[in-house]
Amino acid sequence: MTSRPGTTAAAPFTVDHLLPDDFFSNALRADARAGLTSVPKSLPPRWFYDARGSELFEEITRLKEYYPTRAEREILETRSAEIAAATGARTLVELGSGSSEKTRLLLDALAAAGTLAGYVPVDVSESALTQAAARLQETFPRLAVHAQIADFQEHLGLADDADNTDDATEGPRLLAFLGGTIGNLEPTERAAFFTRVAAALRPDDTLLLGTDLVKDPATLIAAYDDAAGVTAEFNKNVLAVLNRELDAAFDPDAFSHVAVWDAEREWIEMRLRAREDLTVKVRGLDLAVSFARGEELRTEVSAKFRREGIRAELERAGLELRHWWTDAAGRYALSLAGPYERSTR
Ligand code: SAH
Ligand code: AVI
Repeated sequence: MTSRPGTTAAAPFTVDHLLPDDFFSNALRADARAGLTSVPKSLPPRWFYDARGSELFEEITRLKEYYPTRAEREILETRSAEIAAATGARTLVELGSGSSEKTRLLLDALAAAGTLAGYVPVDVSESALTQAAARLQETFPRLAVHAQIADFQEHLGLADDADNTDDATEGPRLLAFLGGTIGNLEPTERAAFFTRVAAALRPDDTLLLGTDLVKDPATLIAAYDDAAGVTAEFNKNVLAVLNRELDAAFDPDAFSHVAVWDAEREWIEMRLRAREDLTVKVRGLDLAVSFARGEELRTEVSAKFRREGIRAELERAGLELRHWWTDAAGRYALSLAGPYERSTR
């Protein structure tokens, strides 16, 4: 792990690199070998987010078809003061923080409540994280920002060692997981994630969880297959990552972007469909991957939720759903949850 202080900040500003040095070689190599040789072929979505992927995601958030960002912002605009009062948080830890743009609403509310001491954004995208942390320093010069480049499936940003005296992890801590990114985990990964969160939260800590909700398929599919083709470019960006990091020879034009609603599992799947029979060399894996015409590579699931499902998933992990807020149109929800008191479990 390396840590370097920011250059212009008045308050502490550090960026910790917590990914193993070989993350983009070994972890990607393992995921790509497993996913490209499985039937059906699939890749985990964390590989979308190199610098270009993070830029493309930001573009997606501004599309008229992509409502989740606007819906979540609406809830934060109306509920952040309530969230600040309910949590009394001194530290905001945020997983998959990206640009941290909506987070400003929470930071403002916690600052207005007089509790805020530190912000710990955690993201696998170094470019998104460092740009966001630097921009935040301009508006919140007295805020201690401890950015962590890490995989949230390995690391929650909650320094739990008892002798930790780092101001930025002073409790109560609010662990925010916004944007609906929880939906990009498979159900078993989600269960493991909630269990780790429940184990790491102290009694006065809380979890703020953003979830997109089940709605009519046409609205959902449009959000993942926009007219301008930005989501298609985002989807194909994973091929550019494989080409660069694993010396692969994917031609993005040889694949079509596909977004499908799976009504049984209540999730959107993004896929890349081969336009022709083709074989792609992945030199870094010493592998040749064959696609039949029409064969699909699954690149992302984006699960959509219902209140009862979220309550039950949290409950199974030992977390109590305490608040449920939606936007006025009922498209998206923010949940506030916390650990059950040990005596009641
Ligand atoms: N929370 C922001 C960004 C959502 S996009 C918003 O609501 O707009 C998803 C973010 O999660 C990206 O910034 C991406 O880099 C990050 N991410 C995806 N998988 C991750 C992982 N396994 N570990 C850490 N960050 C991850
Ligand atoms: C980050 N995540 C919640 C987005 C989503 O909606 O599942 C990623 C995304 N994929 C396509 N468009 C946006």
